[in-house]
Amino acid sequence: MIINIKQKKIIFATLFIILILTIVIIKFNAKNKSEEVQYVIGMSQANLTEPWRISMNEEIIKEAQKYKNVKIVYRDAGGDTEKQKRDIDELVQSGVDLLIVSMNDSKELTPVVSKAYKSIPVIVLDRAVEGYDYTLYIGPDNESIGRQAGNLVIDFAKNNNVKVIEIQGLLDSNPVVERSKGFRAAIKNYNNIEVSRTIIGEWQRDESEDKVKEILKEDNNIDIIFAHNDYMAFGAYKAVHELGIKNIKIIGVDGLEGENGGLSLVSQGVLEGTFTCPTGGKEAVDYALDILNKKEDIPKKIILRSDKITKSNVDTYLQNKQTKPASHKKIMLGYAQLKSESKWRDASAKSIKTAAKKAGMDLVFLESGTTQEDQKNLIRELIKKRVDIISFSPQVESGWDDVLKEAKNAGIPVIINDRTVDSDDSLWVCSIGSDFYEEGRRAGRLLADCFKDNKQANILEIKGTTGATPTIDREEGFKEIIKNYKNYKIVQSCTADFDYKAGKEAMKKVLDDNKNKINVVFAQNDDMAIGAVDAIKEKGLVPGKDIVVLGIDATKEALFSVKRGDIYGTVECNPLIGPQLVKTAEQVINGFEVPLRIINSENIFTEEFPYKEIIGRKY
Ligand code: AHR
Repeated sequence: MIINIKQKKIIFATLFIILILTIVIIKFNAKNKSEEVQYVIGMSQANLTEPWRISMNEEIIKEAQKYKNVKIVYRDAGGDTEKQKRDIDELVQSGVDLLIVSMNDSKELTPVVSKAYKSIPVIVLDRAVEGYDYTLYIGPDNESIGRQAGNLVIDFAKNNNVKVIEIQGLLDSNPVVERSKGFRAAIKNYNNIEVSRTIIGEWQRDESEDKVKEILKEDNNIDIIFAHNDYMAFGAYKAVHELGIKNIKIIGVDGLEGENGGLSLVSQGVLEGTFTCPTGGKEAVDYALDILNKKEDIPKKIILRSDKITKSNVDTYLQNKQTKPASHKKIMLGYAQLKSESKWRDASAKSIKTAAKKAGMDLVFLESGTTQEDQKNLIRELIKKRVDIISFSPQVESGWDDVLKEAKNAGIPVIINDRTVDSDDSLWVCSIGSDFYEEGRRAGRLLADCFKDNKQANILEIKGTTGATPTIDREEGFKEIIKNYKNYKIVQSCTADFDYKAGKEAMKKVLDDNKNKINVVFAQNDDMAIGAVDAIKEKGLVPGKDIVVLGIDATKEALFSVKRGDIYGTVECNPLIGPQLVKTAEQVINGFEVPLRIINSENIFTEEFPYKEIIGRKY
């Protein structure tokens, strides 16, 4: 068949129209698809009678509106733990993709949450479950809230003798125990402060009002009331006001916005002070999406910051809370790194560099020196360069106030990375890293696992850098576990700066001296553990048989050593902090509130861990 020119033109025109239509249809469908629900999240709330929990749900609703592909299904347990168990089961059975839960009774609900975690990711808000069967925990540091409240009471007392009423939430509930612990610890050494009454206000305003009224009718000689939430503090105020008593200072916790929220109560002078207790609702939605979108390196715990609010700073606080327009400028991140002492440090440096590059940041990565002073000079260099934000991995825990104040005065926020500092948290914005204490505890449990037969363990502890957080906390955590076994004893300790060579030297010396019949080595990192293994072998002994070696970090090299049986097991210390650091830096520069602490997700490794997974690991 011969096609003439006219027919050809018609065919081309038809094909062209079909092509255009196809493009339009594809685009239309794609648009519609992105507007479809892709993820369903279940939210199980303990009750909706406390304003703080209402605010948590509101925050979740508001944040979820930003994601068109997300639907949230809410359940309210109405304060009934049995109902919350059913709510969680039903949400899981209905096929939600992820569960967010804020528990009524964490002890009772732990098994149900663990069961849910077997099939879907779980974000636990506010009250932690027992153990680690959840994807991510987000909550406040209740002990620190209590401690801050205690310090405010000390300020108010001004060395005079004062009588205090403490109004707790529910008896024995997690936040109550921790807030009270912090509060009591702060005022412990102040003989002028007497907590004359402790009452249970069930987190409710009216309950608190009634009970405070009864007490004040008997004894109105009270100076300060500390209520564990603003709602109960408001109840206390009503009682005081109704009885016409003057000069009682009332402190609460929560610092919510809105009518009768703690911030407005402080503004009006109803409360003398409050401590913000963020609900974590916003963070829960954002991290839920990160988890569902399979983003890498999701942390295990996020601890939210609590600020002290009094009449003197409430207005500024409220102004700062207004959302500022996002800054689109290229961020210059300055990093003051420690000289590399371990494979862990190399992996952590790589992770920071890769994440900064991916985010399009300008990274000024300074690395040198072995002393704290060297590191301080690096930070000073970054201040001079006028970077937008500074981060560093502090060699030791103490002694950073001066340089942190210099950064603060220069208006440059600081993120503490990897290890922590003991400087006041007003000098830094966020601390990202590991739970070193738990790592030590895990190493202790590894030992118990290995010495099931209760034989005598004569332990050599090879410690990291003196004064560094991992050195201090891992030792304490390890000791906490081994003290339960009377046949375990640390018979010798030495320091090897987290370094392979120093670890090997230290082990060699101990074996040459041969004083203590060492049959266990707890090395505070894998580089030192591998050093110890090599020294044991050189001495003609067999690691794993004559001497059991435990490490921390879970580097690839150590995992192969575990496979060979040279190291019994290693506890993970995750160095892949780059993505969290970069995300936090962006949030800080864009004026968002960031968590106080972000804690990495970590595991324990023994010889059951498969080879092919070791090969696939990034460090
Ligand atoms: O601060 C993290 C620790 O520092 C790592 O466990 C260790 O290897 C190190 O160099």
